[in-house]
Amino acid sequence: MKPLVDTHIATLKPYVPGKPIEELERELGVSGSIKLASNENPLGPSPKALEAVARHMSELHIYPDGAAFKLKASLAAFHGVDPCEITTGNGSNELLTLAVRTFCRSYHDHAVTSECAFAAYQIILQSHNVAMSVVPMTPALAYDLGALQAAITEQTKLVFVANPNNPTGTYVTAEALRRFLREVPPDVVVVVDEAYHEYVTAEDYASAETMRAERERLLIVRTFSKCYGLAGLRVGYMIGTPEMIDMVNRVREPFNCNLLAQRAACAALEDHDFLRRTVELNTEGRRLMEARLASMAHLGVSWIPSQTNFLLVRTQRDGRLLYERLLQKGVIVRPLGAVGPLACDLRVSIGTAEQIERFCAALLDVLVELSSPTE
Ligand SMILES: Cc1ncc(COP(=O)(O)O)c(C=O)c1O
Repeated sequence: MKPLVDTHIATLKPYVPGKPIEELERELGVSGSIKLASNENPLGPSPKALEAVARHMSELHIYPDGAAFKLKASLAAFHGVDPCEITTGNGSNELLTLAVRTFCRSYHDHAVTSECAFAAYQIILQSHNVAMSVVPMTPALAYDLGALQAAITEQTKLVFVANPNNPTGTYVTAEALRRFLREVPPDVVVVVDEAYHEYVTAEDYASAETMRAERERLLIVRTFSKCYGLAGLRVGYMIGTPEMIDMVNRVREPFNCNLLAQRAACAALEDHDFLRRTVELNTEGRRLMEARLASMAHLGVSWIPSQTNFLLVRTQRDGRLLYERLLQKGVIVRPLGAVGPLACDLRVSIGTAEQIERFCAALLDVLVELSSPTE
C-alpha cells in the first residue's frame, strides 16, 4: 500500500493539552485537585458572558451568524477600526492556522518562529508542510528579533511573534517591536499573537495595533480564552488590512465562530469590571508567587519575570519528574519537554491566592523530598 500520510504528517508531534482535573482524579483516586496548567481564568467566565449564554441557549437550533456581524461591530468599536479589518475564529488557534493556510504555499514557502515560542506555530507550519526556521531565544528566554530577521529568506512568507510569549512569559518592548515591523521585508506577513495582552504591566510594552502604520502585512491575533474567561467556548479574532482579512475569510469555514461564543464575547467585551478584577488578581498573584518562589532559592528554584497569567518556574530538577510528583499531590502544572532549554522548567498559571499557596507548598514538599538522602 502507499503510505497513509506524507512524512510531514507522520512526524508531527501532537500538541499535548493540560490534563483535565476529572481525568487526573480518576487516575489517582483523589479529589480536590487544582489545575494550573492551561492559563485559564481563576475567576471563571465573565458573569455578563454567562448571562448572554443563558439568554441565547434556546437558539441552538439556529446557525450562527457566519459573518459575526455584531461581534465584529463591537470589536471594531473597541479597537477603533473598520469591521472589514477583523475576522473571528474558533479560538485564536484557528486564526493562526488560517494565517498559514491563507498566506503560505505548502512545499514552496518558508516561515520563521522561535525555539521557546507557543508550540502551536511549529505544529501548524509542519502540518501544512511549510518549511520553517526555528531560531533560539536570548539567554533570558526573550525573543531575539535580530535572529528572527536574520532567518528571513527570499522564500519567507510568514513570521510568528507572540507578545508576550507563551511559555516564557517574556515580552518585546514597543520600541523593539516597532523597529522589527519596520525592518522586516514588506512581502513577509508578520503575525503578532497577543493572547496575553491584557495582563501586561510593563510600561515599555505596546500592542502592535498601535504600529499598524509601520507595515501593511501585519496580523494581530487576540483571544477571549484568557482574561475574558471563555476558553471553553473557543473565540478569538484577528486584525489586519481589509485585503488580508478578505483573503482569510475566503479560506475559513463559514460558521467557524459558534453562536454562543459570539454572544458571550460581545457581552464579555463590555464587562469592564470583570476584566479589571482579573488583571488585578493576576498582578497580585504574580507577586505572591514570586515571593514564595524566592523563598525556595536555596533549593535551586528561580523564575522568568512574566507579563502574562503564568510563570515559567525554573528548577534544577527534571521538569517531568516534578510534574509527576506534583500530580500525586493534586496539583496539575505544565512540564515543558524532556529535552531542550526548558527541560527543568514548569509553566504554572497564576491562580487564586489559595491555589498559589497550594502549588508553592506542594513544590516545596516535592523538592525537599527529592533532596532527602533516602530518595
Ligand atoms: C500565545 C498563545 N496564542 C494563542 C493561544 C490559543 O488560544 P485560544 O485558541 O484559546 O484562543 C494560546 C493558548 O494558550 C497562546 O498561549
